[in-house]
Amino acid sequence: MIDLNDLSLIPLFSELKDEDLQKLSETMIRQVYKKDNMVLIEEEIGTTMFVILSGRVKISRISDEGREVILSVLCDGDFFGEMSILDGQTRSANAVTLEDTEMLIIRKELFLQMLYDYPQIAINLLKELAHRLRRSDSQIKSLSLQNALGKVASTILRIADDSGIIRQGQVEIAQLPPQQDLANMAGTSRETISRVIKSLNQLGYVKKHGGKLIILDYNKFRHDFS
Ligand code: CMP
Repeated sequence: MIDLNDLSLIPLFSELKDEDLQKLSETMIRQVYKKDNMVLIEEEIGTTMFVILSGRVKISRISDEGREVILSVLCDGDFFGEMSILDGQTRSANAVTLEDTEMLIIRKELFLQMLYDYPQIAINLLKELAHRLRRSDSQIKSLSLQNALGKVASTILRIADDSGIIRQGQVEIAQLPPQQDLANMAGTSRETISRVIKSLNQLGYVKKHGGKLIILDYNKFRHDFS
């Protein structure tokens, strides 16, 4: 059974009436994937899309030199697997669970039918795709234009924008990803990550307590690194 309250909290389905959510819930399967489960493999044919109810999923590609490039880490309320369904091409990236993750699975034909039947879902989808394009644009800018400090700082900024908690001008990232993952997101090495976070700390931009990182003045940080 899929709880309508759970569905109504998912941005893709926001502004839909309860009766429509009820109909939609009948077209989805709920499933728990264990940590480190490869849910999607790059280059496979896509027949389903996924909505995350709880947990985290890493979206990544492997570079020609065999290095992992992390494109995004998705969490509660996010969706993935829509691209190959929409354009008919193979999966654009790999998707792996970073923890036990509960998801809704929607079959291709049913998802496409949903977009015809509920224009609000299509609008919500386009909004999120616009957001992902903006994010990718800033990632391209950071990878091509910035030095190590800028690359790492703009990666931290993307994480803050995705999952940080804002409090009186500061943003708290409750759990920073492991240093190797940060390196794969920023296009740099693990050693550089640790060196740059130390510099950002010394320059007064951030404070770190264990896995938690606080951006002390978010507006200044954004101004200096985006
Ligand atoms: P699809 O190509 O079907 O399978 C891989 C999925 O990863 C893709 O659909 C998107 O849902 C997701 N994805 C690919 N690139 C990104 C990105 N830059 N940011 C967030 N999600 C992405």
